[in-house]
Amino acid sequence: MKPLRKIIFPAAGMGTRFLPATKASPKEMLTIVDKPLIQYGVEEALAAGMGQIIMITGRGKRAIEDHFDISAELEANLKKAGKSALYKEVSRVARMAEVIYLRQKEALGLGHAVLCADHWVGDEPFGVSLADELIISEKPAMQQLREVHEQTGCSVIGLIQVQASEVSKYGIVDYHAEESGLLRLTDMVEKPSVDEAPSRMAITGRYIFTPRLMGLLKEVVPGKGGEIQLTDAIAALAREEPVYGVLLEGQRFDAGNPEGFLLANSVLGLQHPEYGESLRLALKEHL
Ligand code: UTP
Repeated sequence: MKPLRKIIFPAAGMGTRFLPATKASPKEMLTIVDKPLIQYGVEEALAAGMGQIIMITGRGKRAIEDHFDISAELEANLKKAGKSALYKEVSRVARMAEVIYLRQKEALGLGHAVLCADHWVGDEPFGVSLADELIISEKPAMQQLREVHEQTGCSVIGLIQVQASEVSKYGIVDYHAEESGLLRLTDMVEKPSVDEAPSRMAITGRYIFTPRLMGLLKEVVPGKGGEIQLTDAIAALAREEPVYGVLLEGQRFDAGNPEGFLLANSVLGLQHPEYGESLRLALKEHL
């Protein structure tokens, strides 16, 4: 089994649910308290030992590249002004990871975005992380997946339990629990009705795949709008080899839409050691 070092961040989507905020700036750069979403994702990947990062970007996404780049002028100005904590943080972010950028020229779906990294992945297992799904947990979500991948050598997908009324928003899995306690996925359905949903277990934006996934993505028949669905390739993978699900521990926020984003900012803002207490008091005054 080859070591797991690589991770793909698909970030070329149009962010239509968050317009007009995402008209000229990437959804992945939306800020939760004091950091953009993509930085949370990259820090989580690094904490799980995935240090080789590829971002799939597109038009209007340059701010992501700038965020992880060295800004000599900014660093010099912060140093000169004696703002040493800010200087340290800014230079830490610029040097935290080895990041490669690749452009998806047309937004042909999440599956297509992942397939753009085919050559870079080669014959190694790889992670995929959707940064607009923010997961705050004691053990990084990607590490929770990595442990099952290392135990089994197989693909692993992060799951959450959702209410019946919510199944139609997610990819929902069918599974059986093995004696070891691992959940082996047997099928998945994209956005089913309550009656069609095989369970209440929904796929989140955290995955580890064997390199076989890339071959199967090439065979996926594009759906409406020419989009290549990642879920179709995962279902095909589960028919060929074991794919496991991990019920993730932690708080998950769908920060790619205004409601989930506001919830994430409210919860993490109120929990923040520096701003939490004053925010609570200010909210009391305003409401
Ligand atoms: P989403 O559907 O959540 O993102 O795709 P979106 O398309 O940006 O948002 P809406 O639906 O228009 O509001 C899940 C992830 O896949 C990436 C997105 O950037 C997001 O991280 N993606 C999606 C791509 O990289 N390329 C695509 O063609 C589609």
